Amino acid sequence: MCGIVGVTGKDSAVSILLNGLEKLEYRGYDSAGIYVNDQDGHDYLVKEKGRIDDLRKEVGEAVHGSTGIGHTRWATHGEPSVANAHPQVSADGRFYLVHNGVIENFQDLKQAYLSDVTFKSQTDTEVIVQLVDRFVTKENLSTLDAFRKTLSLLGHSSYGFLLMDKEDPDTLYVAKNKSPLLIGVGDGFNVVCSDSLAMLDQTKDFLELQDGEIVVVKPNEIKITNQAGESVERKPFHVDIDAAQADKGTYPFYMLKEIDEQPNVMRKLSQVYLNDAGEPVINDDLMTALKAADRLYIVAAGTSYHAGLVGAKLFESLAGVPTEVHVSSEFAYNQPLLSAHPFFIFLTQSGETADSREVLLNVNEQHFPSLTITNVPNSTLSREATYTLLLHAGPEIAVASTKAYTAQIALEAILAKALGVATNQPAADDFDVKQQLALVANGMQALVDEKDTFEKISKDALLNTPNAFYIGRGLDYAVSLETALKLKEISYVQAEGFASGELKHGTIALIEKDTPVIGIITQKNTAGLTRSNLQEVAARGAKTITIVTDNLAKDGDTVILPAVDERLTALLSVVPGQLLAYYTSLNKGLDVDKPRNLAKSVTVE
Ligand code: F6R
Repeated sequence: MCGIVGVTGKDSAVSILLNGLEKLEYRGYDSAGIYVNDQDGHDYLVKEKGRIDDLRKEVGEAVHGSTGIGHTRWATHGEPSVANAHPQVSADGRFYLVHNGVIENFQDLKQAYLSDVTFKSQTDTEVIVQLVDRFVTKENLSTLDAFRKTLSLLGHSSYGFLLMDKEDPDTLYVAKNKSPLLIGVGDGFNVVCSDSLAMLDQTKDFLELQDGEIVVVKPNEIKITNQAGESVERKPFHVDIDAAQADKGTYPFYMLKEIDEQPNVMRKLSQVYLNDAGEPVINDDLMTALKAADRLYIVAAGTSYHAGLVGAKLFESLAGVPTEVHVSSEFAYNQPLLSAHPFFIFLTQSGETADSREVLLNVNEQHFPSLTITNVPNSTLSREATYTLLLHAGPEIAVASTKAYTAQIALEAILAKALGVATNQPAADDFDVKQQLALVANGMQALVDEKDTFEKISKDALLNTPNAFYIGRGLDYAVSLETALKLKEISYVQAEGFASGELKHGTIALIEKDTPVIGIITQKNTAGLTRSNLQEVAARGAKTITIVTDNLAKDGDTVILPAVDERLTALLSVVPGQLLAYYTSLNKGLDVDKPRNLAKSVTVE
């Protein structure tokens, strides 16, 4: 989703901003812009629809400065256009503002305070920059006080703001509510960003901001104040990511690199969370809280929700604890009746998903314990949950999530084993998670080494089809949902994941000659049934493809998966689906890593 960068105190501000915006490209955007100034009164505003490359060309050689702000915009109010791109500017050209989030009451504010102003954009953001200007010019407030007064009018809106005043050239004004923003601490300079990846080549020390705080950032000064205007002291945290980890090296796309990294992610999780004897090593307080729960509630969105569906089976079968899985955007406003002692698990790669955070805020208000499983240390959901476990998958840059999904399932397996052992469940004692994850890692390696096979299947069955189905039962159904999502989001094939027994209750009407139907068969008790369902669609002309575990395979099956514990087959059966989606997108000539309309980190509800 939208990205923010800012810098003060560096002569190379323009290249820092453009490089930073490039690092945020993966989050999804449709236009971008920068504003920079120098100490001699020169300033430049450059905006462009399309890619950062286009913006870079528009910026050219002449634009320079030592302080500036930049933005990638993912349209919410108003179409993607130069006028709607950020920075937005006040009518008199004095104030410049970039914004992530949504101002819910911008129409009311416009009417109440700005009915005489002619707006140049359709954005909610322009209202904010015009308001700051209004309070400075008409009410004689300082920029900081005008900013503070503006923020006090925004109700429950979500925002990360970075504001500049042309008359105060080296100062950045920063504020946030619900939307992530970090201050990067430099030596003689400072930076601001919505994601530390954008500024890792400038600093690795970052200050997190709390909702409602305002920060004034100068080259040698960072002043944080809370809503009441009191000053706040905070120590920076160190981000332990090598900038090179966020580089795609020789790979054509990040997605392929991230698919290939999955065997190592499995090994890394084993190293971090299992001791030499293969026993889970999990924080004692977290284990005590989990043991006290009578029901687990997994809350997540998209791919993470799909990982939750697999996790629920693991918690129920290994730890014997009833587990529900909920889509966060639904749960937030339709909370079901809860058990007496609920424990919430938030699955979120980014740790910033607004829908999931809304649930966490409600959970915190009700004083229930919670755990965030995330790939991003210090992310908002990590900070606000009672406990955090990290996925250690390395930065996931491609919009389509792959290694975070498998990391989430592997970590759920480790946690379910830990809880099962702690509560004396025989199933957990018999489950050698270390050995199984080693088998999974080897199995994944074998699959990613067969790329040509998947490219061929994609070309034969998926490249020219308008629609496709993945089907399965139980865990195979859960994976069908994920593999269908992968296919639709990056190749734009209308794909559905379906419970295979449910097809005949209506959806089978969509099957025509050559409609691809991919059956996932990894569960012994349902293998025969899914095969029958595949026969039913084949009889109606479908082109059937099977992804089957070794021990259940029959002559004519298309993809054979190495056998692992039945509870972990999702970790392998998903990989062909990831690669089929990748090659379909690639051979359609699409931008695999940055599919249309999508954002990596969805920070609006
Ligand atoms: C799909 C995908 C999304 C995310 C979803 C939740 O490939 O990546 O469906 O899974 O937006 O994001 P996180 O996990 O960051 O909360």
